[in-house]
Amino acid sequence: MTYAHITGWGKALPEKILTNDDISKLVDTNDEWIRSRTGIRERRIAADEESSATLAVDASLRALEVANLNAFDLDLVIVASSSPEHIFPATASIVQDGIGAINAGAFDILAACTGFVFAVNMAAQAIKSGSMQSVLVVGAETLSRFVDWTDRNTCILFGDGAGAFVLQASEEPGGVFSGVMHSDGSGADLLSIPAGGSKEPVSEITLAEGNHYIQMEGKGVFKFATRVMASATKEALEKSGLEAEDLSLVIPHQANTRIIEAAARGLKLPMDKFMVNLDKYGNTSTASVPIATVEAVESGRLNRGDKIAFVAFGGGLSWGALTAEWTGPYPIERKVPQKRYLFLAKVRSVLLRALRVVEGMLWGHYGRDRKL
Ligand code: COA
Repeated sequence: MTYAHITGWGKALPEKILTNDDISKLVDTNDEWIRSRTGIRERRIAADEESSATLAVDASLRALEVANLNAFDLDLVIVASSSPEHIFPATASIVQDGIGAINAGAFDILAACTGFVFAVNMAAQAIKSGSMQSVLVVGAETLSRFVDWTDRNTCILFGDGAGAFVLQASEEPGGVFSGVMHSDGSGADLLSIPAGGSKEPVSEITLAEGNHYIQMEGKGVFKFATRVMASATKEALEKSGLEAEDLSLVIPHQANTRIIEAAARGLKLPMDKFMVNLDKYGNTSTASVPIATVEAVESGRLNRGDKIAFVAFGGGLSWGALTAEWTGPYPIERKVPQKRYLFLAKVRSVLLRALRVVEGMLWGHYGRDRKL
């Protein structure tokens, strides 16, 4: 039997910090209100030269470093993002090129903040079925670019960042045990970016109405989230034959401390079994679960052999959970040091681009002179 182990993890966060006090200079709010209603103290905001893909590349390279793996060995790159680089091409394609995953297929998953948990579940299924050996899953966001900085209902909540996992096949028991995925499109209007897609392409009207920004019915999302966090985790536990008490740690989507507290009550677990770091980063959507995981490892709260659950909810509406046994990095010898590999991959990418330009010129020339 093949198991899907999480063998690498990485995070990337912009340097710029935006505190609640900073936001109170933009809209009518204050630090006390934001902290007591959400738990958030500050969030990170991407610099002009950063984007979802650049953050994703940084987090991915760190994850590959931990896994002791070269991107050459990846079979698949999945990026989950609520703020992708473009409508198309997929952010995953840009990441695939950026890390030199020359043998990997690459695609994006869109399930709002649940996207990373869904993507890890899909990656684990691909590995367990025997069709893939190594898969990179990334959650990457620059939601600050889609926030209306005059809307106090939403601009206090979101932050930028990226997190990544490497999943690898092994015959050793462990890794991702079970996953559950749920959606309820009847609640699609509760949280959305209405314009910019095919239904409402960006126009002067959509810009004037601010429909290219995140729109949210906060109370509705809050009620939904408090309902599904515990139920999804219970479902995933049941599927893997585990009890809530078996869990060393729950790593939930970092949206609001009150939502996580409701999940803890629903699961009858103390809050110290939950990883919470939303005070520092706000809601980083798909990136929140992997960033929290990396910080759990760094702070010694997540260790080899621990039974854990990941749980997330988001727009769609969507929600899902996973249970896993934490593996830690495998003691594999890296074939080529990452820096050297990356240099060679960059040279290859530049040569391919140049070749495409030359090819285009030649074909253009040929096309002009060609007599049919
Ligand atoms: N600062 C100060 N006051 C604010 C405010 C802000 N940033 N935002 C809203 N208010 C005001 C409202 O206008 C309202 O005033 P009123 O009573 O005079 O009308 C009052 O505070 C209460 O607003 P309400 O929306 O009922 O607050 P709430 O307790 O529901 O908290 C959220 C708002 C957004 C924090 C909360 O609903 C929430 O976290 N929802 C889930 C959002 C989420 O997680 N989204 C991402 C999902 S992935």
